[in-house]
Amino acid sequence: MIFKSSTTEIPEVRNVPSHIAIIMDGNGRWAKQRFMPRVAGHKRGVETVRDVVKACIERGVEHLTLFAFSSENWRRPEDEVSKLMELFVMALEREVGKLHKNGVRLRIVGDLARFGPQLNRLIAEGETLTRNNRRLTLNVAANYGGRWDILQAVNRLMADPNRQGAVTEADLASGLCLSDAPEPDLFIRTGGEKRISNFLLWQLAYTELYFTDTLWPDFDEAALDAAIASYQKRERRFGRTSEQLSETVKEP
Ligand code: IPE
Ligand code: IPE
Ligand code: MG
Repeated sequence: MIFKSSTTEIPEVRNVPSHIAIIMDGNGRWAKQRFMPRVAGHKRGVETVRDVVKACIERGVEHLTLFAFSSENWRRPEDEVSKLMELFVMALEREVGKLHKNGVRLRIVGDLARFGPQLNRLIAEGETLTRNNRRLTLNVAANYGGRWDILQAVNRLMADPNRQGAVTEADLASGLCLSDAPEPDLFIRTGGEKRISNFLLWQLAYTELYFTDTLWPDFDEAALDAAIASYQKRERRFGRTSEQLSETVKEP
């Protein structure tokens, strides 16, 4: 399925966001508040992922993209990075079967070359097992960076010897990691920071942004509903005027 680009066409807008993208931030602070090691916050964060996936299925969200590890997170202390990798392995081992049972298609997006063979094997197995599921597509962004994503799409185009003429938006968008999903309708960042941190730079062009101070391990169903309720109050104009929008609604 080809989804409409927010800049070359007007995408369909539904009451429930079709695609939600989340920066799951605040695990470290959650743990620190409880005098626990940072990794304890990451562990609780995995539980939140499970609950949010379930809540999204129940609400009819079709695509959920979660930022799990950025291309800049390698800058963290070695010990935290290796614990995060262990947690990633554990989460895949424990959760993939359940995701499959619940009709979730799992995709890991990012530069996977930097992950070890065990993690790559689990990713490939999880993606293959769940590839035909359609209830919800769960994209987990791991070693992902928005700039990396755009560059890999450009490099893919440049490597094609038959390419001719100027690159179009559609050419570039088709090489991006989330090319088979509509652009996110709603972006959520937990943990209080108001920045994109190199998440989906291209895809967020017309996404509604929602920031909450709630730390990721505390982000529950009610918090998700608050974000969706905020989204439902927005007027998505895509460059048009408010008057134009009411005219479109009046049409038979
Ligand atoms: C987000 O939580 C998880 C990852 C980036 C892996 P943080 O670990 O960034 O938590 P804070 O921001 O330090 O509280
Ligand atoms: C963004 O959080 C990345 C993830 C949640 C995976 P960070 O905690 O790494 O972001 P900064 O460093 O505060 O911008
Ligand atoms: Mg953080």
